[in-house]
Amino acid sequence: MKSLTAKNLRKLWSEFFSSKNHAIISSASLIPENDPTVLFTTAGMHPLVPYLMGQKHPSGKRLANIQKCVRTGDIDEVGDDSHCTFFEMLGSWSLGDYFKENAIKFSHEFLTNKKYLGIDPSMLAVSVFEGDKDSPRDEESAKYWIECGLKKEQIYYLPKKNNWWGPPGLTGPCGPDTEMFIVRGENCSNECSPACECGNFLEIWNDVFMQYNKTGEGKFEPLSQKNVDTGMGLERTLCIIQGVSSVYETDVFVPIMKAVTSFIGENSLDEVETKKAKRIISDHIRTAVFMIGDGVTPSNVDQGYILRRLIRRAIRFAKQLGIDFSNISAIAKTVLEVYHSDYSELKNETLIIGEIEKEVQKFEKTLIKGLSEFEKLCSYLVGDVISGKSAFKLYDTYGFPLEMTQELAKEKGLTVNEEAFKSAFADHQKLSQAGAEQKFKGGLADDGVAVTRLHTATHLLHKALKIVLNDDTVSQKGSNITSERLRFDFNFSRPMTENEIKKTEGLVNEQIKKKLSITKKEMTVDEAKKTGAIGLFKYDEKVLVYFIGGNPEAKDKNSEVFSIEFCGGPHVENTSELGTFKIQKEQSSSAGVRRIKAVLE
Ligand code: ALA
Repeated sequence: MKSLTAKNLRKLWSEFFSSKNHAIISSASLIPENDPTVLFTTAGMHPLVPYLMGQKHPSGKRLANIQKCVRTGDIDEVGDDSHCTFFEMLGSWSLGDYFKENAIKFSHEFLTNKKYLGIDPSMLAVSVFEGDKDSPRDEESAKYWIECGLKKEQIYYLPKKNNWWGPPGLTGPCGPDTEMFIVRGENCSNECSPACECGNFLEIWNDVFMQYNKTGEGKFEPLSQKNVDTGMGLERTLCIIQGVSSVYETDVFVPIMKAVTSFIGENSLDEVETKKAKRIISDHIRTAVFMIGDGVTPSNVDQGYILRRLIRRAIRFAKQLGIDFSNISAIAKTVLEVYHSDYSELKNETLIIGEIEKEVQKFEKTLIKGLSEFEKLCSYLVGDVISGKSAFKLYDTYGFPLEMTQELAKEKGLTVNEEAFKSAFADHQKLSQAGAEQKFKGGLADDGVAVTRLHTATHLLHKALKIVLNDDTVSQKGSNITSERLRFDFNFSRPMTENEIKKTEGLVNEQIKKKLSITKKEMTVDEAKKTGAIGLFKYDEKVLVYFIGGNPEAKDKNSEVFSIEFCGGPHVENTSELGTFKIQKEQSSSAGVRRIKAVLE
C-alpha cells in the first residue's frame, strides 16, 4: 500500500476519475442551497440530488469531486479514533450512465492498482445487499467482485441496515450499496463480518446504486435513471494508508494537534482525558474555520447555533486542559495553514480569525462564572434532574448552549429537563410552543424573521436580475442567507454596470412598495412547470411554489405576479415587511458566475 499525503490522495482521486472521463467539479458550499430541511451538506451527493433525480448536469453524466461535509449527529463520538464533525468526501458519480459493473471495476482498480492506492487485494473485503421486499439480493455486484479477482469468502451479504444508503433527508434518491473494507486480521469470532463493530473491518469506500426514490409514504419507486454515487472519507482513508490508528494522527491533523499540545497548561486530566480533549478541540476548531469560510457566523439560530456550539465546546475543553483562551485563534491559524492552499474560501484569514476571536471573547467572560453557577446548582440539587429553569438561566445569562449543560450534567450522572427548558425558552422569547419546538428540533430551525425577510428578497432579486439584464438564462447558481445579509450567485459573464445595479435595486424596492402578497401553492412538478416557475427544482411528487403578487384572493388582487419560484420557504406574507433593499457588493464569484451581497435596511 502506498503512503500518501492528503494533497496527493486528492490529486490521485481526480487524476483517476479524469482518466475515466469524469468531469472534476468543485466542492459545493457546506451550506445547502435551497434545502431548508438540513443545515449542512452531509455527503458529496447532497448538492447533486436534482441531477440524481434526472435533471441534466452541465458538466455531463460522469462527475467526481472532493466535497466538504459536516455531520454533527455523532458529536459525542468525536475524540475516538475515527469521528470528526467536518470531513472531506472523495466522491464520484454516474448520472444515468454506467452502473454496477463499471463502478465496481473502477473501485477495484483505484484500490489495488499500484499506480493508485496499491492495496493488496487479499486485505480487502466487500459487502453487498442481501435483498428484501424492496430490492433483490445483489448477486450482480457479487459477480463483478468475483470477476475482479475477489474470493467468495471476501464477500458478505448484509441487510438494509448495513448495505443501503440514502436518502439524505426523509425522501429522495437511495439504493443498495456495496461497501469496501480493509481487513485488519483480528476478527473477534468466526461470525465476525463488516457488520461487526469490533474494529476488524475498516470501511474505506461505499458505492451506492441509486436507483430508487423513497416517497413520503416510505415506498421505493424506481428512478427514471440508474445512478452510481460513491463516497470515500478522506480522513479515514488517510488513516489506513498512512498506517496510523486514528484520523487525528494523519497529516491533516498532526499540525493542529501539535498546536493544541503546545498550549496545554496546568490541568488535572489524565492521559485518556487529555487525548480526548485535544482531539475535540482540533476537530471543532477545524470545523468552525470551514463553516466561517462558507459564510456562517456564530448566532443563536440555524447554522450559526451549531457553529457557536462547536466553538464554545472547544473552549470548554481548552479550559480543562489549562489552555489560555487567547491561543484558540492560533489553533485556528494552524487549520488555515493546513488547508488554505486547497480551499480558496479560507483565504480571508482576518475575517475567519476575527469571528473566532469575537466568539471566544464573548464566551470567555461568562464561561467561568457559568461553570461555578452549574457547580452550585448541582450541590443544591435534590434528585438527578436539572430543571429547565436552571438550564435556561445557564443559556440566557452565561451563554451555555443546552447541549453543553446536558453534557456537563451527563458527566455527573445527571440529566436536564429538556421539555421544561424549551418551555422556559418559549416563555422568555414570547414564542409559541410550536416555534420553540421548531427551534430545538435537533438544533435545527429556519424561522428567524431576518432570514425569512432576506429569503423573500432573494426571490425578488432573482427575478429582477432576469429583467434588468434582459436575459432569461440568468439564474441562481447559489444562495446563502444569514440574519444580516443575503448572498446570491448567478451566471453572468461580465460585471454589472453601476446603472444595472441601481436598476435592479430599484425594481426590487418597487415590488416592496407595491405591498405584494406572497402565496404558496403545492402542485405537481408538471403543474408547476406550466406556471413558468423559476428556481432550483425539487423532485418530490408535490412541490411548493411561491408567488409574489397576482393573488386574486389577496388585498393586492389587481397586482401582476412578479415572481414564481420553486422553494421550500418560509417567506414573509407581504413584501411590505421587507424595508429597503440595498445591494452592497457585486463581484465575481467564479468563472462566469457573479455574486451579489445585499441587505434589507
Ligand atoms: N453517499 C454515500 C455515502 O455517503 C456514498 O456513503
